[in-house]
Amino acid sequence: MKALLLLILTVWLNSQSGDCSLSSSCSYPPSQWCSSLEAAVECGALKHCLQSNFTRSRQPGDPVEVGLYYESLCPGCRLFLTEMLFPTWLLLNEIMSVNLVPYGNAQETSQKGKYVYQCQHGEQECLGNMIETCLMNMTKMAFPIIFCMESSTDVIKSAQTCTQVYSPELKWDSVMSCVKGDIGNKLMHQNAQQTQALNPPHEYVPWVTINGVHTEDLQNKAMASLFSLVCSTYKGPKIAACGGNQKNYKTYCHNE
Ligand SMILES: *[C@@H]1O[C@H](CO)[C@@H](O)[C@H](O)[C@H]1NC(C)=O
Ligand SMILES: *[C@@H]1O[C@H](CO)[C@@H](O)[C@H](O)[C@H]1NC(C)=O
Repeated sequence: MKALLLLILTVWLNSQSGDCSLSSSCSYPPSQWCSSLEAAVECGALKHCLQSNFTRSRQPGDPVEVGLYYESLCPGCRLFLTEMLFPTWLLLNEIMSVNLVPYGNAQETSQKGKYVYQCQHGEQECLGNMIETCLMNMTKMAFPIIFCMESSTDVIKSAQTCTQVYSPELKWDSVMSCVKGDIGNKLMHQNAQQTQALNPPHEYVPWVTINGVHTEDLQNKAMASLFSLVCSTYKGPKIAACGGNQKNYKTYCHNE
């Protein structure tokens, strides 16, 4: 309750400040600033939209949105993604959505109209982040592929094989042309902006948000049992996996 009040206050404060001021390149009317990620970014209203989207428009039956801000080679990120987030999603995907933002503690600079990235764990990590970002833009099977990569010994080397397994129709060449091209560069910039819009700003990765909100308490609960956290956060009818189950599993075949 306290967190909710705090959040409402934060949103109100933000809406009072010049957060939504029109930037010169904004081509959307204010009513449409939050209609897409691109509009929000272009109009400098990302922070405002991410928060207002989650507070004003959430319905009781909406899936719980779990945001993961991470980087592809950080050991703690890999552990959380592969042993907590992915298994939880397999069980709870009907009441949960996942927003993966591979960027983490990377740094962005702009050179000759292109963004240039430096990653905490070196160039390989930037490559891993970019492959995962492109996959999310190209296939619905991105999460299983990313899980496959992150649980392999070599995150980068496994990428092509993992893609072939889960999304055989997706050509590796087309993934790599996204990775090396303008689309990848633009998508990574969106990751940078989403990460920079975090409120409070991230202090470490993996950094978890629940319905767009990060608190120390939510982070600790997510680390301890994301499953319990998602089940208890979801306000719609209890699903079987969360224990809201009428079915009788106690049917045995007796040894006569
Ligand atoms: C806000 O929510 C709408 C509808 O759910 C979605 O299409 C849009 O992308 C969201 N905007 C942002 C900035 O997250
Ligand atoms: C992929 O990225 C492009 C360029 O930003 C965007 O227009 C498109 O909507 C994205 N597609 C998906 C499925 O995310």
